[in-house]
Amino acid sequence: MIDTTNQASSRRDFLARTTTTAAGVSALSGLALPAVHAQGASTIQVALVGCGGRGTGAAVNALSVAGGPVKLTAMADVIDAKLNSSYDKLKSQFNAQVDVPPERRFLGFDAYKQAMDALKPGDVVILGTPPAFRWVQFSYAIEKGLHTFMEKPVTVDGPTTVRMIKLAEAADRKNLKCAVGLMVRHCRARQELLKRIQDGQIGDIVAMRAYRMGQGGGTAGPRPAGVSELTYQIQRFHAFLWLSGGVFSDYYIHQIDECSWMKGAWPVEAHAVGGRHYRGDSLDQNFDTYSVQYVYPDGTRLFFDGRNMKGCRDEFASYAHGSKGSAVISTLSHAPGMTRIYKGQKMPTVMSRKDLPLKEDPNLAWAFPQPERSPYQFEWDDLIEAIRQDRKYNEVKRGAEASLVASMGRMAAHTGQIVTFDQILNCPHEFAPNVDKLTMDGPSPLQLGPDGKYPVPEPGIKIDREY
Ligand SMILES: NC(=O)c1ccc[n+]([C@@H]2O[C@H](COP(=O)([O-])OP(=O)(O)OC[C@H]3O[C@@H](n4cnc5c(N)ncnc54)[C@H](O)[C@@H]3O)[C@@H](O)[C@H]2O)c1
Repeated sequence: MIDTTNQASSRRDFLARTTTTAAGVSALSGLALPAVHAQGASTIQVALVGCGGRGTGAAVNALSVAGGPVKLTAMADVIDAKLNSSYDKLKSQFNAQVDVPPERRFLGFDAYKQAMDALKPGDVVILGTPPAFRWVQFSYAIEKGLHTFMEKPVTVDGPTTVRMIKLAEAADRKNLKCAVGLMVRHCRARQELLKRIQDGQIGDIVAMRAYRMGQGGGTAGPRPAGVSELTYQIQRFHAFLWLSGGVFSDYYIHQIDECSWMKGAWPVEAHAVGGRHYRGDSLDQNFDTYSVQYVYPDGTRLFFDGRNMKGCRDEFASYAHGSKGSAVISTLSHAPGMTRIYKGQKMPTVMSRKDLPLKEDPNLAWAFPQPERSPYQFEWDDLIEAIRQDRKYNEVKRGAEASLVASMGRMAAHTGQIVTFDQILNCPHEFAPNVDKLTMDGPSPLQLGPDGKYPVPEPGIKIDREY
């Protein structure tokens, strides 16, 4: 059971623990700083590991960075159709910048190693796989002296968060640049809003609200014949907590992160409600609805609502309310940011692009000029610039903390308990302890129960672990 009075392991202990040596990381410690910088106009080679939608998108962004040559030279995936369609798309769009002959296209659970072996120190690997594999593949990138772009979330539970933060320190010791796909942090409109909030333009933030409510997601119908259980789960990774942290971590992390960024703190505890209403024949582990109250150190709340349900009203926006005014952090999804500041607390509700352009509003105090460039491009411009100029650049600790805070809200909903930052950090439940040893035809870390279903969260019944 979660002991809400347990203060034995504090954030300070956590910091101490993450600076001690541990298995899996010790081999990376104490190495001399190598000459790993792809400085000036030299070609930066990129390998893509996880060639799905976002990995391919990240490769597009990488190959679109100006200021020096960038080439894609290796690709890896566990599913050949994904690798092939990604290759075709990238080759047709970038032709000469895509130099990935069949012998540098790798398949299987070890493919990530082969793709990274094809690079030289100072090159970049994109980790576009589900988050379960992040620490495994990041460990190897560090060993190989590669800079890394990894998608969010970077962890799905407490133990992997501790591990990831140690890895971030190991990457720092090798002067590696590491980016995490919380691209909103690179959005110039949000950066300008943050400055204005820090300048006091809305006064002190007293509450925040965020909504990610859409028509569905994270389901997994029965396994088709001829597909292994592991492949089935990987192909539907949003459905399974060990792979993704579920829709909660995968979808909601951005807004929990952007609100915490504006507030300048991580929340210290969460309580939450949620339930499974319409999962039908889906075998996934998600709830249809989540409503979370995050509490910041000064008592400020972030109220977060997530819903994945057909026929209901959609909203995908984040707001901050201050003692002197209010701010829109996200208007209609991640991009464009369309950040704005209003006098007082009244803001127009923007439900869809049909509501744009916004009508004149006497309460509008400031709005970031439109149109905006994509934050997905800015995050790559910033990473490659840091590599070329050899500037310190490591977002992994921050990304791991954002992932942990997402897990904190998810665990609060799934267990029906208040979960603190320290509790989620020290929660011993590692969802997939042997993820580094998986084989294509071996078993999955998540197995069907005797009822033919995967275990699901049961708040109030399972209270010290989510399933
Ligand atoms: N920043 C954003 O806005 C954003 C948007 C979408 C997705 N993402 C993130 O990107 C990641 C991937 O999401 P996606 O939508 O591209 O999913 P996807 O299923 O389209 O792509 C994942 C790919 O990884 C491959 N893969 C899975 N396990 C692998 C392994 N062990 N080794 C090699 N390849 C493996 C899959 O076969 C697939 O091709 C997730 O972490 C997701 O949260 C971020």
